[in-house]
Amino acid sequence: MKILIAYYSKTGGTEKVAGAIKKELEGKGHAVDVEKVKPAKEHSFWGWFFIRLFRGECNIQPPKIQDVSEYDLVCLGTPNWTRLSLPVARYLRQVKGLKYKNIGFFATTTLLPDVEWYILSMYLLDLTASRIIEKRGGRIIASVILSSFFKRWNFTSEYGKRAIKNFCDKVETPIKSLKDYFLKQKEIESIRFLVILFSIFLLLSFLGQIISSITANQVLTWSEYLFLFVIGFFSYFSLLTILEGKTWVFWGKYLIGISLPILLTLTPLFLAFVQGKPIILGYILIFVLISFFRDPKAVIFTGAVTVLSYGYLFFNYPFSEVLQPTLDIPFLLLGMGMISFITQKLQKHYINSLEAQDEIEAARKRAEEEKDKTLTIITNFADGLLVFNSENKLVRINPQAEKFFNTKNQKVIGKTMPELVSSSKFKFLAGFFKKDKWIKKVFRKELNLKKKLTLEVSTVPMVSGEAGKLGTLVILHDITREKRIEKMKTEFVSLTAHQLKGPLSGIKWTLRMFLDDELGKVTPEQKKFLGKTYQANEKMIALINDLLNVAMIEEGKYVYKPVSTDLGSMIQPQIDSLREEIKRKKLKFEFKKPVAKLPQVTVDAEKIDLVIQNLLENAVRYTPSGKEVTVSLKGGIKEIEVTVADTGVGIPRYQQKRVFTKFFRGANVMRMETEGTGLGLFITKNIIEAHGGKIWFESEENKGTTFHFTLPVKK
Ligand SMILES: Cc1cc2nc3c(=O)[nH]c(=O)nc-3n(C[C@H](O)[C@H](O)[C@H](O)COP(=O)(O)O)c2cc1C
Repeated sequence: MKILIAYYSKTGGTEKVAGAIKKELEGKGHAVDVEKVKPAKEHSFWGWFFIRLFRGECNIQPPKIQDVSEYDLVCLGTPNWTRLSLPVARYLRQVKGLKYKNIGFFATTTLLPDVEWYILSMYLLDLTASRIIEKRGGRIIASVILSSFFKRWNFTSEYGKRAIKNFCDKVETPIKSLKDYFLKQKEIESIRFLVILFSIFLLLSFLGQIISSITANQVLTWSEYLFLFVIGFFSYFSLLTILEGKTWVFWGKYLIGISLPILLTLTPLFLAFVQGKPIILGYILIFVLISFFRDPKAVIFTGAVTVLSYGYLFFNYPFSEVLQPTLDIPFLLLGMGMISFITQKLQKHYINSLEAQDEIEAARKRAEEEKDKTLTIITNFADGLLVFNSENKLVRINPQAEKFFNTKNQKVIGKTMPELVSSSKFKFLAGFFKKDKWIKKVFRKELNLKKKLTLEVSTVPMVSGEAGKLGTLVILHDITREKRIEKMKTEFVSLTAHQLKGPLSGIKWTLRMFLDDELGKVTPEQKKFLGKTYQANEKMIALINDLLNVAMIEEGKYVYKPVSTDLGSMIQPQIDSLREEIKRKKLKFEFKKPVAKLPQVTVDAEKIDLVIQNLLENAVRYTPSGKEVTVSLKGGIKEIEVTVADTGVGIPRYQQKRVFTKFFRGANVMRMETEGTGLGLFITKNIIEAHGGKIWFESEENKGTTFHFTLPVKK
């Protein structure tokens, strides 16, 4: 638990108790902060006495912890100045975040603590404290009082140590149900109130008895008085015991329900002049008093005791003619009935409100837990996170993002998007946000923040079903390492391919020389094998070329040498180079050219040759014998479109998304065991897009595939 101890101490007594409580709580593993409340001006005993009596208020120096909301518990210490000492009372009124807070209350006194309880001052102190705290939405869950003057009862004594331990045990135990807590607390407070009334009554009656006996105006004889006093004191003492032990609290109201009617009944037996009617009204008053407990059963119980007492009175009262049971008893029963009815209603409302409080508390706890969880996730997330609210103000930045931007939370929190974008560190956000709006719902972009830091930035809108748009989350994923590895891989491929290309070319030319009989006569049988080896070597060279192209694309070194050309004249030679294969497969091949001359395009001819070659080769390779392949050319003002349509095996629908990725090969094509590296279309797409063109396709399995690409017309 995170605990705050706030106290005022004039002569140091409360300070020592605060220290002992701190030690005990820290020993239990809690984190404890201390706030020493200081008055704006310290006063002498009489100075304070005067202020307390006449001004009733005092100012304090601003507390260093002004908001206590982050604490699970606040322990409040005060010297016992009959009511809550003035600096602490002021502190309680001033400090923020007391709502829903549990409070432990400790006080010191000059006298013995038990005497303080019994001569009422602690009850008043406790009542005053709980009134102020309740007003601020907090609740006292434990109280302790120690003497700062008598060693026998101070914080170092056995008594003191036990009291501090009990206090600390209690404050660290969470309240399970606010309803039960408040029901018990209210009962304790009501009993406490009656105890105070009892003690005042006993004290005054005793003084009255002494004065009346001195002045010879005695109404009751001493034995009569002592008889009543013993009954009164017995009730008072029982209530005190209940309060001390806090175990029989429930029976307290029944005890009062017996003792008060009996006292009231016995008194007129001795006071012959007391008339009947005031006694009946007295009984009603007792019902009202009992109704403070909000328990209709206690009112009915008191009513039953009252009727019995009344019966006793009627038969023993010397002036029984003033009592009229036929009128009095119905009146009493009616009074009891009405008051118990009202009490029942009160009880129902009270319990409902307490149940509602329980629900609110549970919901609040759940919400707080959720908030804590979310905060923990955000704080410990490996990616950097920026959270913007619906007004596009930055409301949270986690430590990882602080590290990326080399900034501190408090410097940026609360800033709006335009304010952030104006600083160089957050300029990149401008790419995501224009004219008070996020550009796209979900957006990803790579960002080179520093020399050795590449981030993948994504924006995600935060939307809740009920509340609508809550804000936007910006996720900053560090991809520096992935980028480095990717680069190393590409470099490795490029290096290996370069190394392989030389020897393979050597083999090619040697084989060619053998095949052309330049190195002596080769038998037809030998030529057959040499021819196969030559073809295999050609395939290897094609693969190496593909790999080199891919590596260059990825390294960003795929240089384009643009020249102005006629696209139509580039297609024909590629068709011619496939002529033999077309013939072998008996394909119906058609090249549709527009009649009018097409505008020129500016392209890297070598690369566009590769594109046409790739598309034509695929069409011829994957179209079964006897079927058609059509190449067409369409011209526009802005662009020229080339279409290669086949009636071949097609690409399965579920694989169509991956057609342009590296090493893609259709599942049906793989079954055919035809050749192919799976790199051609990746290269093709990169070449077309590097020329400012577009490439797309339609395909249906077993019906065929049509590829289209466009190239912009030279301006
Ligand atoms: C203005 C004033 C009024 C006091 N009134 C009472 C009182 O009514 N009852 C009591 O027990 N002590 C009273 N005291 C004494 C202190 O409450 C008591 O000695 C306390 O333990 C001192 O705590 P401290 O040493 O932390 O200042 C009063 C002290 C002052 C300054």
